[in-house]
Amino acid sequence: MAKYRIVMVRHGESEWNQLNLFCGWFDAGLSEKGKNEAIAAGKALKDSGYRFDEAHTSVLTRAQVTLGTILKEIGQENIPIFKTWRLNERHYGGLTGMNKAETAAKYGEEQVQIWRRSFDTPPPPMEADHKYYDNIVKDERYKDGPKPDEFPKFESLELTIKRTLPYWNDVIIPHLKEGKKIIIAAHGNSLRGIVKHLDQLSNDQIMSLNLPTGIPFVYELDENFKPIVSMKFLGDEETVKAAMAAVAAQGKAK
Ligand code: 3PG
Repeated sequence: MAKYRIVMVRHGESEWNQLNLFCGWFDAGLSEKGKNEAIAAGKALKDSGYRFDEAHTSVLTRAQVTLGTILKEIGQENIPIFKTWRLNERHYGGLTGMNKAETAAKYGEEQVQIWRRSFDTPPPPMEADHKYYDNIVKDERYKDGPKPDEFPKFESLELTIKRTLPYWNDVIIPHLKEGKKIIIAAHGNSLRGIVKHLDQLSNDQIMSLNLPTGIPFVYELDENFKPIVSMKFLGDEETVKAAMAAVAAQGKAK
């Protein structure tokens, strides 16, 4: 029998998802569709009777608003919310703000697929003259971390996992051990990192995982935090499949 259960959800569609722009650490808000996805996620959790003791999210608005919407739907707005840059989206470096389809037309779909989904190939760095450099680096929300010498200019999935996993191991696991019922609202690639770790996916296997926006998924874990139930989505299979395919298709040249 499972000893622990944890719910995770990627934020609803953001305004930059809608425009098909690489977003990373840029603080895009939710689109109307994304707001509705967050409401639907909350309703799905409510209908299945989920209750939480605490929530964890990134320092980015799209994840926090998704979480807030979910908690409102389930009538649990007052539970403790922990916010950390370690759950942020992967930093998309110099690609931040570029259109994914146009980037595929320019550099080839294969290159874009490598930038988006490979384990260890990072995007090009965000240099100091990048349009969004100051917007991100000078943002007050990072005054408590990452430290200047660990502030990313880009991140591969491997680097994303390196800064996300300490939070999983040092905060989430101890809280699960205390018996806390937890929901994490985060991002496509920070959550891919956690999924890769939990399911021990190979570097090749993780390439084909595209997490849909706004559909919660559940892990049931044994006493050693090994999954008994993996990535069980609260949504019908066809809808989840179509949503995953839509995310994958964002990197196609039009
Ligand atoms: C972004 O940061 O652009 C997205 O939220 C995740 O992008 P990806 O699906 O291209 O990795």
